Amino acid sequence: MDTMTWTKVIGASCGSLLILLLIQWAAEEVYHKSDYYYKEVAYQLEVEEELNEIKEEEEQIPFMQLVENADLSKGKKVFGKCKACHKLGNGENGTGPHLYNIIGREMAIVSNFKYSSSFKGLKGSWTIDELNLFLIKPSDYIKGTAMNFAGLGKPVDRANLIAYLDENTK
Ligand code: HEC
Repeated sequence: MDTMTWTKVIGASCGSLLILLLIQWAAEEVYHKSDYYYKEVAYQLEVEEELNEIKEEEEQIPFMQLVENADLSKGKKVFGKCKACHKLGNGENGTGPHLYNIIGREMAIVSNFKYSSSFKGLKGSWTIDELNLFLIKPSDYIKGTAMNFAGLGKPVDRANLIAYLDENTK
């Protein structure tokens, strides 16, 4: 072979070597990027999981503790949802019976209020626990109740409200 041919052969091999190197580099780049991406996703999932755990712990705070640390002004706001039907003054019935002295009061005891048949026979009193359970979803707790109210899903709302009632119905 003459020099020219050698030059061509060497040139060609160098060229293909270069292309191989380029492919390898590109492949590695892609691999690393995706590796990084998966690590990032895994990390985000981990953080999310931790946040969920914290949330669950919050939800497990005993209700009494929420009542003890209640925010009365927020409770007053929540009571805005009851106001259309309930007054706090003794004897002041509306669509619903008055709520004077409601914490610890006997159930369905207001003599001049016409309770529904599902309420009439109720035994027991409105302890904080009973009120808490009732207010989550009244129609679930006392089937057939005439209290037409969807309920308060958030424990902290119920706690603030109950503390407000306790403070303002004596
Ligand atoms: C749309 C009207 C309405 C709304 C709003 C409403 N209630 Fe009532 N509530 C009633 C009626 C009516 C009764 C009587 C239920 C029955 O006879 O079945 C009642 C009953 C009650 C009782 C039982 C009283 C007793 O004497 O045994 C409590 C406690 C009570 N409501 C608290 C609340 C609170 C707190 C809210 C706000 C979060 C609220 N209600 C919202 C209409 C309402």
